Amino acid sequence: MKITVFSGSHKGREGNTLIMVDEFLKGAEEAGAETENIFLIEKKIGYCKGKFECWLKTPGSCTIRDDMDDLLPKFVASDIAVFACPVYFDNIPAVMKNFIDRLAPVLLPHFEEDKMGEYRHAKRYEKLPKIAVISNAGLPGQTNFEVESLFFKRLARTFHTELVAEIYRGEGEIFRGKNNIMLKPLLGKYKKTLRCAGRELVDNQTLSEKTTRELEKSIVPASLYIKFGNEEWDRLYEENKVD
Ligand SMILES: Cc1cc2nc3c(=O)[nH]c(=O)nc-3n(C[C@H](O)[C@H](O)[C@H](O)COP(=O)(O)O)c2cc1C
Repeated sequence: MKITVFSGSHKGREGNTLIMVDEFLKGAEEAGAETENIFLIEKKIGYCKGKFECWLKTPGSCTIRDDMDDLLPKFVASDIAVFACPVYFDNIPAVMKNFIDRLAPVLLPHFEEDKMGEYRHAKRYEKLPKIAVISNAGLPGQTNFEVESLFFKRLARTFHTELVAEIYRGEGEIFRGKNNIMLKPLLGKYKKTLRCAGRELVDNQTLSEKTTRELEKSIVPASLYIKFGNEEWDRLYEENKVD
């Protein structure tokens, strides 16, 4: 099984999202998956021109020559495509949206009705990858992911595929405290659950209710996260102050 992660943090290899992705992929590899993690911010990906040239002029490929020449075939050849990104103003970051817009060539222009009586474009490929999401948000709570969750459900429908896993972590800045002796065991436990999720997804193509429940638990109470978070903002503010 081939799992490709498309990582959409604008901080790339320094992102909190990467900590989640790394653990998840360890589990997936333990279960025998071949994995790849692509940092979208390091790639040259132009904006979709919106002219449907990938449907009309050069059917199945974009007329823009950039890194999507490699990324689109990698997406199509994956069994599971993982969209991994932080929450930016309740939504996905620009680099991720830009990448997703450029996946338009995987569809055909023609309209069709789906099983639910809604309309979408027909598919160009017999099989497109199943979709999983890994995301983190700076604020505590699962409501920060409401827009993303709906978006990826709709994307899976649009791409004639299934959303097989949604892994959402509020309190995402907690990963910056990875060397804090109080947080280390709590983060260790969470990372273990992420590895378990990676294994389960490869073995069963889905996550168990138990693992999903574990992944959604707060790592520390929200009140504590807010208190220490604000103290950290004050400290960083002082550290960055130019006299
Ligand atoms: C422009 C911008 C908008 C953000 N919007 C939100 C938001 O709406 N809700 C939230 O909880 N966190 C928000 N955050 C915080 C990030 O989700 C958080 O810092 C996350 O841990 C960053 O992940 P990364 O290190 O992988 O980039 C925002 C951050 C930025 C830079």
